[in-house]
This record gives sequence, C-alpha cells and structure tokens, in this order.
Amino acid sequence: MPKVYVTRREVFSSAHRLFNSDWNENQNEEIFGKCNNFYGHGHNYILEVTVFGEPNPETGYVIDLKILKDIIREKAKNHLDHKHLNFDVDYFKTHNPTAENIAIYIWKLLENEIPSGKLYSVKIYETENNYAEYRGE
Ligand code: NI
Repeated sequence: MPKVYVTRREVFSSAHRLFNSDWNENQNEEIFGKCNNFYGHGHNYILEVTVFGEPNPETGYVIDLKILKDIIREKAKNHLDHKHLNFDVDYFKTHNPTAENIAIYIWKLLENEIPSGKLYSVKIYETENNYAEYRGE
C-alpha cells in the first residue's frame, strides 16, 4: 500500500540562552558566542511536523491536517510560544535549548498524540538557513 508523508507548519517565537553551566565564561563565550548572551535572545522558530501512513480509503487523508494543527498547537506550540525556554520549560533546565534539543522535546510531546498515521519527523528552523530534524532515533 502507498505510504504518503504529510506536513504541518507552525511558527512560534521564543527566547533562549545557550550555555553549559559546567564551563566558565570564556569557554561558553568561545563555543556559543552571541547565543551565550546573558539575558538571552529571541528566534522566530518554524516547526514542521511530518506524519506518514496510508491514506484512509474513505477520506483520502493520512491524517486530517486540521486535527494535526490542533494537536501541535495544544501539545507543543502553546508550551513554547512567547516563553523564555531556559526558565519557562523544565526540560530546558537540564538540556541546552538548541534547535536539536527543541526538536527532540517536541517529538516527545507529540509522539503518542497522533491519532492516525505515524510521526515521521520534527523539524525546527532556527533561522532561514539553519534547521535541525529529529526522526525519533
Ligand atoms: Ni539562538
């Protein structure tokens, strides 16, 4: 049976600061540069969530994208949008809030919430040119 991949895009804005508390100021500055700014800085993140599966013969949908939109907003976006990730989200008290770790976190929030098809990937664009993609491995 044919498998199809469908994607929903959402946008959210968050602040973060990249640092490793085991390192001194110089090491943090050297590795993270401007992303180490003490009070943080913001990004307009683009999130792309891809689900795959066989289209339902009655609807032709892998998953109704309206339903996927609501799940992404309720389970992920609302916890991140207009937040300072280091302070407002417990996961990022122990994980540096890089695009990589944000993708993994969103995967964890969504993986058991998809009612039809299977979660395939979570992509986080931090800038126009940089993104991280997690596929659950
Ligand atoms: Ni940043």
